[in-house]
Amino acid sequence: MARLIELTLNGRPRADAVPDNLLLLDYVREVVGLTGTKTGCDGGECGACTVLVDDRPRLSCLSLAASVGGRRVDTIESLATDGRLSAVQRGFHEKLGSQCGYCTPGFIMASAGLLRRNPRPSDEEIRAALGSNICRCTGYVKIIEAVKYAAELHAAGAAP
Ligand code: FES
Ligand code: FES
Repeated sequence: MARLIELTLNGRPRADAVPDNLLLLDYVREVVGLTGTKTGCDGGECGACTVLVDDRPRLSCLSLAASVGGRRVDTIESLATDGRLSAVQRGFHEKLGSQCGYCTPGFIMASAGLLRRNPRPSDEEIRAALGSNICRCTGYVKIIEAVKYAAELHAAGAAP
C-alpha cells in the first residue's frame, strides 16, 4: 500500500506518494535525493541518520516516511544559508569536531535540535542530547567544544 504524505521538508512544502513501509531514511536519501543523512548501523544504535522532525531529533532509520505527514522535517542540507554555514556547522568545522565525517551530519542535526530548544546548554545537557550518537574518531571532547562554540555563535545571532 502507498499513501500520499504532505510535509515541509527543509522549509519547502512537498507531497509524495510513499509505500507504507518506506523508511524516512530511504525517503530523504532515495526519493528526495538528499544524501547528507547517513546510513550507519541501520538499527537505531549510531545516530548517523538523525534528522529533525518539528525540531526534535529523530532516527530516520527507525521511522516511517508515512509518520511525518503534516510535519516539518529538516535534514543537514537545510542548515547552510546562501553558502554560509550555520552556527553548528561552523562549530564542528572550526573546533575540529569532525574527522572522517561519517557521523557528523547526525551529530550536527542533534546539536541543532538542542540549540533550537535550549540555546545555552550546559556540558551535561550537550552530552545528554548527543547520547544517541556514536563517533569512532574524535573521542567526543572536540564535539562538545564544537557545540559550546556553536551556542556562542547562536547567542551572537547565527542560526543554529
Ligand atoms: S543508521 Fe540510524 S541509528 Fe544508525
Ligand atoms: S568523525 Fe569519524 S565516526 Fe565520527
